[in-house]
Amino acid sequence: MVRSQGWYGGDGRDPYIHRAWMRRGVPDHAFDGRPQIAIANTASDLTPCNMHLNEVAEYVKQGVWEAGGVPVNLPVVSLGETLVKPTAMLWRNMAAMATEEMLRANPIDSVVLLGGCDKTIPALLMAAASVDLPAVVVPGGPMLNGYFRGERMGCGTGVWQLSEEVRAGTLAAAEFEATDKTMIRSKGHCNTMGTASTMGLMAEALGMTIPGVAGTPAADSRLLEAAHTSGRLAVELALEDRRISQVITRQSFHNAIVALAGIGGSTNAVVHLLAIAGRLGIELTLEDFDRIGAQVPLLVNLQPAGTYLMEDLFRAGGFLAVLDQLRDLLDPSATTVTGRALTDYLGIQQVWDQDVIAPRGEPLQDDAGIAVLRGNLAPRGAIIKPAAATPELLVHTGRAVVFDSIEDVHARLDDPDLDVDADSVFVLRGCGPKGYPGMPEVGNMPLPQKLLAQGVRDVVRISDGRMSGTAYGTVVLHVAPEAAAGGPLALVQDGDLITLDVPARRLDLLVDPDELAARTPSQRQVDAFAVADRGWQKLYIEHVQGADSGADLDFLVGSSGSDVTRESH
Ligand code: FES
Ligand code: MG
Repeated sequence: MVRSQGWYGGDGRDPYIHRAWMRRGVPDHAFDGRPQIAIANTASDLTPCNMHLNEVAEYVKQGVWEAGGVPVNLPVVSLGETLVKPTAMLWRNMAAMATEEMLRANPIDSVVLLGGCDKTIPALLMAAASVDLPAVVVPGGPMLNGYFRGERMGCGTGVWQLSEEVRAGTLAAAEFEATDKTMIRSKGHCNTMGTASTMGLMAEALGMTIPGVAGTPAADSRLLEAAHTSGRLAVELALEDRRISQVITRQSFHNAIVALAGIGGSTNAVVHLLAIAGRLGIELTLEDFDRIGAQVPLLVNLQPAGTYLMEDLFRAGGFLAVLDQLRDLLDPSATTVTGRALTDYLGIQQVWDQDVIAPRGEPLQDDAGIAVLRGNLAPRGAIIKPAAATPELLVHTGRAVVFDSIEDVHARLDDPDLDVDADSVFVLRGCGPKGYPGMPEVGNMPLPQKLLAQGVRDVVRISDGRMSGTAYGTVVLHVAPEAAAGGPLALVQDGDLITLDVPARRLDLLVDPDELAARTPSQRQVDAFAVADRGWQKLYIEHVQGADSGADLDFLVGSSGSDVTRESH
């Protein structure tokens, strides 16, 4: 018997109430024991990347009806990167918590998860994991390619590049302004290998999509077909009670980490995958990313590290063609929502354009995965994406230039008296989960005008914040513990020497240990930390964990299952 029969099945007052209010044109047989399929839908007019998901939901519904289920649209908390202040990440855990609770509270047998913009797929997967119902993801898909002067222009990446050009005086502000509608010209999420693209592909690597679906452009009619097929599958999942905990295993994370390196995926995937693993009770650590992923070659030539965009990746063979190249590194025991192994789907899709998907024998870069750093500046770890960095800066020692907040950066960055040169190491703190709050994407802070004028385009930057998946540079991120949680980042002073040594996986502050032990954070810096006064922000600051374990709230880690034992009437 399906779970929803606990609401609709049988005689008496309560089942009568549950059916009666749901009638409204729905036939008797809708309540005869067939599966009720929720469509957890993050469509919102304020999340432009997910606006088209209502149309996708209609195709899911057709598939559900066709397979003998009953679809129900469940709008859930939606988070868009572009508008939400101070950072969408502040509400990833809230979106996950609210979705989990609503899935549990309602007569639902399985769920189709519709996400797109950065935080939405992670939040949906965290929710589904904690309620542990059968689930399948339909990633909303990327926008079509953008263009500027006949060349590809990726959203996000193009903004960072061109705004630096305006700052450097090599591009007119009006020309920059005019690029907005050629950069964003269709439905879908960012078309670079940013966080949204990455997390769509990660959902597939984890086994949570029908293989071959992730990366389908939002405007491609094959996405709607995939939505229909996923609706059908959701009915099958409900009837077989194949839950998310049976699909995602440690082996799935192994495959996700291999894939993350091969595609040159966003650093944000580290925080999200750690959080999803935490919900499933799967032991996953920062070191796993380095151990499993660091030696994986980069095969996908997408911005921000490369040239092309997601539409090109799809045309060139798509994600399965990439995974096929990495097949020997994948764990064949990891399964998918279809019940078959992920590796069963390889060997079919070939590479059509080796400029976009490099052959395994001629990778764009060796050892492309995320590197995990430790040292006296990051006792619980920090990460860097060497593929997005300047090779000459991967081993570097320089004098610290310290900023206590992103506002401090904005206020002083272009001060002509700021003591910086091309060898400086920029430190930005107070940007961790607790400190900001919400861990914003500011780690790739802009460069001072005077360095830009000298032709400098990258310096070593270190922060306890995150970086947009569409950004690039020699940027050390997610330093843990963060400054606001007592991390040593809070003790760095202007002029201190800092050594970054990526091959040795070290990040060290070259200050005498006795002197360091005697230092305390400045009042100026303490004043910059966020205050836990009320509402979600209070709950968040008091309970959020470090980036090194996924920045989930401590009481949300794990699963409560789907049982609800008490009645509402
Ligand atoms: Fe939504 Fe980039 S802003 S995916
Ligand atoms: Mg982003």
